[in-house]
Amino acid sequence: MSHQPIIAPSILNTDFCLLGQTIDFLNQSEADWIHLDIMDGRFVPNISFGIPVVKSIKKRAAKPLDVHLMIEHPELHLEAFRDAGADIITVHYETCPHLHRTLEQIHLLGAKAGVAINPHTPVEVLKDILEHVELILIMSVNPGFGGQQFIYQSIPKARRLKTMLMEENVSPIIEIDGGIGLQNAEAVIKAGVDALVAGNAIFNDKDPGAVISRLKEITKTTSYV
Ligand code: DX5
Ligand code: ZN
Repeated sequence: MSHQPIIAPSILNTDFCLLGQTIDFLNQSEADWIHLDIMDGRFVPNISFGIPVVKSIKKRAAKPLDVHLMIEHPELHLEAFRDAGADIITVHYETCPHLHRTLEQIHLLGAKAGVAINPHTPVEVLKDILEHVELILIMSVNPGFGGQQFIYQSIPKARRLKTMLMEENVSPIIEIDGGIGLQNAEAVIKAGVDALVAGNAIFNDKDPGAVISRLKEITKTTSYV
């Protein structure tokens, strides 16, 4: 990817009573995308929010909705999420026995398709699907909750993925999600990451806008090495 890395704040741990204000704030911030975490209590041990909430957010959001589906049988709900306003739909490798078909379904709906891998899933399993995705999401925590500690092996993993993409001459966006903040943004970008999801690092700070600006600043001064 040639352009500057993307900042995608996750609203998972924000106060949902104030959702409208949160979206207004993100619209005015330097954030590039809005990351929405959909959890079903089965693939992951937590339930977050679903289609009607995505629909309401879409009405207010001025930025692309980056929808991360942590659900079993995502193929059953792709159309509903697309209709609700998802711009990027990311499914988990671990939930898709027919991943190629699922990605095709996402494309037919007119959305960008992403595939996410859990911390224990090696990047190499994606080798034969690289041409069919616009985004690959490396989970740097076990999915299910915000505010967990970054798994440091995700950095060499991102680098391995970047090398693989260059070897195969393809350029989907490499996104990373979980435990990302000012302390590791530079390291992950240097390893080849193009899009940073951050939840707690932004919304647990007393000045979320300043954290987004500082993350953005890091993206301007750092690149893959
Ligand atoms: C975890 C979610 C993440 C999470 C990130 O399952 O996919 O998007 O909200 O939160 P932090 O940045 O707090 O780890
Ligand atoms: Zn996520």
